Amino acid sequence: MLERRNPDRAVEILEAGCGSRWDVQLDGLDYRVIGVDLDAAAVNARMTVRKDLHEVIIGDLLKVDLGERQFDIIFNSFVLEHVIGAEALLRRFVGWLRPGGIVLIRIPDPDSVKGLITKLTPHWFHVWYYRVVLRYPGAGEPGKPPYPTIYEPVVSRTGIHDFAARHGLVVSEEFGSGGIKKRDRLIDRAINLFTGLVSAFSFGRYSDDHTDLLIVLRRPH
Ligand SMILES: C[S@@+](CC[C@H](N)C(=O)[O-])C[C@H]1O[C@@H](n2cnc3c(N)ncnc32)[C@H](O)[C@@H]1O
Repeated sequence: MLERRNPDRAVEILEAGCGSRWDVQLDGLDYRVIGVDLDAAAVNARMTVRKDLHEVIIGDLLKVDLGERQFDIIFNSFVLEHVIGAEALLRRFVGWLRPGGIVLIRIPDPDSVKGLITKLTPHWFHVWYYRVVLRYPGAGEPGKPPYPTIYEPVVSRTGIHDFAARHGLVVSEEFGSGGIKKRDRLIDRAINLFTGLVSAFSFGRYSDDHTDLLIVLRRPH
């Protein structure tokens, strides 16, 4: 996907909102990754447990000063839905991106049943869901998800397409993914039934065949 215009140097990656982990495999690639996040507890966990960042900045992506630095890849995974000023952050990404570089954006799709419920329910419900349904250890504690959700209008498939068109970026790939795992727990079957019913009663307006979106934007040369 990435054009290696300059194979003599490492691919430079900005992980914008790096949190405590990433699930990306880049074996065999010569790369350097700098993580930025405002949650010191999450970043400290990342630095002491995962140890997979070459450089880290604890700070707000909307304010951090990266000077003239530009990147081949900006990886922004499940962050935009938490940001007040998501469009301003996307504009910063455009400035940080080398010509030919890509931004990978992952968001929970607000046009999925999961996204709809995430938007309509309070934060305490998200904490309960992480603890009880996802069985996420320490959910809601400092440095651990879930984080409060804002979901500005640009944080959607159409919003990101529109932003790309206005800022000279090309949507080069997009995928839907995720969903309740096919475990045989009663609660999982109940959730699958519920999301299927919401999708059906919305006449397909809200999808239940995926929960998350990955959109890849390219800055042309
Ligand atoms: C749901 S977590 C995602 C973490 C990681 N990217 C992942 O996919 O697992 C959201 C992260 O975005 C960070 N974040 C939210 N707003 C931010 C901002 N304005 N500047 C920097 N980080 C921010 C939070 O601190 C948190 O670590």
